[in-house]
Amino acid sequence: MEVVRHAKELQHRADELRAAGRRVALVPTMGALHEGHLELVREARRKADVVWVSIFVNPTQFGPNEDLTSYPRTFEEDCSACTWEGVDLVFAPNPEEFYPEGCQTWVEVSELSQPLCGATRPTHFRGVSTIVPKLFLAAKPHIAVFGEKDFQQLAIIRRLTRDLCFDVEIIGVPTVRESDGVALSSRNKWLDGKRRPQATALLHALDAAELAVRAGVKEVFQLDEIVAKELAMAKDAQVDYAEFRDPETLEPILHELNGPVLLALAVFFPVPGDKGPDRVRLIDNRVLPAGAARIPRNTKSNTRSTNR
Ligand code: PAF
Repeated sequence: MEVVRHAKELQHRADELRAAGRRVALVPTMGALHEGHLELVREARRKADVVWVSIFVNPTQFGPNEDLTSYPRTFEEDCSACTWEGVDLVFAPNPEEFYPEGCQTWVEVSELSQPLCGATRPTHFRGVSTIVPKLFLAAKPHIAVFGEKDFQQLAIIRRLTRDLCFDVEIIGVPTVRESDGVALSSRNKWLDGKRRPQATALLHALDAAELAVRAGVKEVFQLDEIVAKELAMAKDAQVDYAEFRDPETLEPILHELNGPVLLALAVFFPVPGDKGPDRVRLIDNRVLPAGAARIPRNTKSNTRSTNR
């Protein structure tokens, strides 16, 4: 498996593959690959002839007090995992090339970037929505694959792809979970033995809300109470947000549900010691099919997706 470091070289490869009629899928990542990312790779493989993974810890999507320095960097292991999964090429651009001296071009998806994670991470989505078009312009993929765990990110990427007329099909892959249902994330490793079990509260809150909705509850204040009760079971968690939103526009749903609704959750857990960040923020989400009659069983088997 090859590693390419320069956008020009990748563009050249992309042109050749396109001329030969081959479909390229790109899986953008920041490395520290886990099973969730590998699921994206497998989906890419099902959809395209050629699979490229980009590995780039994008500095512009980290705020000043965020975990850029402690973000795990495991390039060798990542390349081995890609080789094992049959990835054709890893694109690992140099930061100096991707953000050259004097770089002043940004992409902003103005409204979708503001709520939820955007409220506590005000510059995060500007960084994401700038790097993703750069990756698209470098790799010229037919398809790009992202995890549904980062639901807001996916909504933003879909919107910028449409708004900027990129001819790239965006595929979302359901969240991959650990055996206890906690969504896979490279940040889970910061949870200590006391907090790790508490992280299941997010899935329990999603399950409880879904059960209530399927049983006919439509009032958001009632659902808020159900979710709050489940999250309160995680004694050390500080809730960042627990909100019902329109799955496409991310507009808040404040009163009654009258269609599918996104339940988006984010909680902070403290991280003891001084080897990592002070605290870690876990996110999870589910689109609840309002009013449906079937009671689901939300275990590992029907709860799959990703993250970084
Ligand atoms: O989801 C991620 O890993 C990152 O936000 C992405 C999309 C690769 C952009 O840096």
